Amino acid sequence: MHELRLMDIEKKYKGKTAVENLNYTFHQGVYGLLGENGAGKTTLMRMLCGVLQPTQGKVLCDDIEIEKMGSEYRRLLGYLPQDFGYYPEFSAERFLQYIAALKAIPKKEADSKIKELLEMVGLTKERKKKLKTFSGGMLRRVGIAQALLNEPEILILDEPTAGLDPKERVHFRNIISSLGKNRIVILSTHIVSDIEYIADEILIMKAGQIIRNGIHKELVNDKEVSVWKCVVEEKEVEEFQANYTVSNLRPHEEKTELRIVSKEAPTDTAIRGEVTLEDVYLYYAQKE
Ligand SMILES: Nc1ncnc2c1ncn2[C@@H]1O[C@H](COP(=O)(O)OP(=O)(O)O)[C@@H](O)[C@H]1O
Ligand SMILES: [Mg+2]
Repeated sequence: MHELRLMDIEKKYKGKTAVENLNYTFHQGVYGLLGENGAGKTTLMRMLCGVLQPTQGKVLCDDIEIEKMGSEYRRLLGYLPQDFGYYPEFSAERFLQYIAALKAIPKKEADSKIKELLEMVGLTKERKKKLKTFSGGMLRRVGIAQALLNEPEILILDEPTAGLDPKERVHFRNIISSLGKNRIVILSTHIVSDIEYIADEILIMKAGQIIRNGIHKELVNDKEVSVWKCVVEEKEVEEFQANYTVSNLRPHEEKTELRIVSKEAPTDTAIRGEVTLEDVYLYYAQKE
């Protein structure tokens, strides 16, 4: 089992900080990196994979700098980049054969692995079809398969659920849960439900920092976050939206029921609701 450690990792692009002084250690299990666009998820993942040099700090795998490990580290690693490039004229199977060759996996071994992975991502029937005919979700599944070709012990998936439809999302979650049993899996998303129940540990990123981390139960027990339900007049809705984090609203007879994430009760009659991970995420996303 491996350990991946970030030590004072920082990345600046032309003086603008994208990732700020992170320290964190990954062990076996599924890690969900949650953050809105621009939070620094991709920058962090690229540094974890060794394809981007940090401005400062280092990434250690089992106490050795990944840079010094070179190809040995790449053998351990499976990576699905956010902007994964495909070859439109290749079939899914041909594409996987091509990536397997790049990863120097012997042909026989590759063929049986490809068969297994196509089955796993549900593309066996479509394996001979050209990638240019694939939907976004199907391409994502091909991307996940290619990241798994070398049986990586460290798997990094950048927005793997982008473009997946609800059924594919469920399928994907099941795949990830099973993969986390004997490796480090780190996946990024801005969609809370994608990681809510499969991540062993959740890291919320904002403006280049990890602002909260912990298991699901710890995060939803955040002392600073409370959820309130209150019924207000329709003409008041806008005012509440301006002053509070409103996570949901729905008609309630002639009025509107608001779900508000706030430390203090928004009205005298507001009643407490159960805090979800989405509430915590919203609260910190909007907090100054
Ligand atoms: N190559 C780059 N050059 C300049 N700025 C960049 C570059 N890549 C990312 N950034 C900036 O760094 C910040 C973090 O981006 P990114 O890591 O892509 O976040 P996320 O993946 O969470 O959306 C953003 O402000 C983004 O505009
Ligand atoms: Mg990104």
